[in-house]
Amino acid sequence: MDLTQRLENVAIVGAAGKMGSGIALLLVNELARLKLSPEGEGKTYSLTLIDVNHTVLEGLMSYLRTQLKKAGEKKVAWLREVYQARTDLVENGDIIDEFVMDALTQLRPATTLSAAAGATLVFEAVNENEDLKVKLLSEVRKVAHPDAWYLTNTSSIPISVLGKRLEIPSRIVGYHFYNPPAVQKLIEYITTDETDPGLKAAGEELCHRLGKKIFHSADVAGFIGNGHFMRDGLHAIAAMEALRKGGDHAPAIYKVNRVSQDWLIRPMGIFQLIDYVGVDVFKFILEVMDRYLPGQGLHSAFIDTLFEKGILGGQKHDGSQKDGILGYTKGRPSAVYDLARGEYVPFDHEGWCKTCDEELGPLPDGYRGWKTLVRAPDRKAYLERHFEAVVRGETQGARLAAEYLKASKAIGEKLVADGGAASAEDVNGVLMNGFFHLYGPINDYV
Ligand SMILES: NC(=O)c1ccc[n+]([C@@H]2O[C@H](COP(=O)([O-])OP(=O)(O)OC[C@H]3O[C@@H](n4cnc5c(N)ncnc54)[C@H](O)[C@@H]3O)[C@@H](O)[C@H]2O)c1
Repeated sequence: MDLTQRLENVAIVGAAGKMGSGIALLLVNELARLKLSPEGEGKTYSLTLIDVNHTVLEGLMSYLRTQLKKAGEKKVAWLREVYQARTDLVENGDIIDEFVMDALTQLRPATTLSAAAGATLVFEAVNENEDLKVKLLSEVRKVAHPDAWYLTNTSSIPISVLGKRLEIPSRIVGYHFYNPPAVQKLIEYITTDETDPGLKAAGEELCHRLGKKIFHSADVAGFIGNGHFMRDGLHAIAAMEALRKGGDHAPAIYKVNRVSQDWLIRPMGIFQLIDYVGVDVFKFILEVMDRYLPGQGLHSAFIDTLFEKGILGGQKHDGSQKDGILGYTKGRPSAVYDLARGEYVPFDHEGWCKTCDEELGPLPDGYRGWKTLVRAPDRKAYLERHFEAVVRGETQGARLAAEYLKASKAIGEKLVADGGAASAEDVNGVLMNGFFHLYGPINDYV
């Protein structure tokens, strides 16, 4: 069975979640493309969308309908060709509606795992909980095609562990989409020594068909992306603790967040990123990594305490940011949760924030932030000048940034040295594509 044949019966478990819904959108577009192509003539393609209840599945279907309409609008010229024999479809609107209908008829929303009967390709995107993943996929195995391939979106659990527990070591791979899957270009691909060569190749082909860039990671808990991000976050927390010296959290969090965004020229500060991912998710991933990589200090009392207090970050249903380590107004940081005081402290740019900014000192001359640099043709030269000034700088901001750069580089180098990543290019590629960093952590700046 080749990939196209396997795409005739696909199932997603956890389809209505953040990642599952994006994966569903990517796949339904690919299945619709196949169905409407000459190679799909006379074939049927089915995508079973499994989640816990009808309410979440209804939300998913409505999301997919809206997104398919947008996709149809973008490829209306191709759709005109596809439907050229259909004289009843005249206006662009008619053609797009027909495409949406054609795509939607391939979908089978379901609340029971038995709906995955006969599936030849199974995507898994349920919560980051090893026992849950094993329990659900064991049930799916009973009904899926005996030779089905499994692609898990786990962020941290070693694939060989899942393969062993599920007794499918050759038929499961890590297919780690980034959030949101429909937009993010990166797939971190984790195969093992036991992976079926057919599956290995099909995973690469699918990645290409979905318009994604693939980066291979070794089968090490956390893989490359979270392997770096978690340790980077732990460095930030340690830097914050060193700054506050047992005092208030707010100024220290504010400073480290600013340094990691402004001095390091990243799209957002580290504490904002942890909130975006979710303090709870950050904690769960750390726990998995600590279990499989013991003795590396992969835990944080700060994160555990926030979790206990219900300070979780993450997103609301409408996609807006929930309060976490930082508080948000209209999606922008506007306060800091001060653990020592047990409350959010609003930013005060004429008061304590101003004091923090003065203590950090000015940014290097002619400073340009991430947004202005992301498409700048002279980005490389600018970054070299910027980091030269940072490393030479004597302000608190420059010192914290230089320490941060060094820590981030050491994390990347250790990933390569320990065999988690095959090369510095892979580490840099994942960070630049998955986290939108403008430069890789393994660089010559420090
Ligand atoms: N959110 C991210 O930024 C991100 C990025 C990359 C990878 N991941 C990984 O992707 C996976 C999913 O994460 P998410 O953020 O989409 O989580 P989520 O909580 O948004 O989605 C999980 C989905 O699984 C469903 N589910 C739970 N139990 C189920 C059951 N018994 N049967 C069927 N469905 C069930 C839930 O209802 C939910 O819709 C995790 O392994 C996570 O680590 C997440």
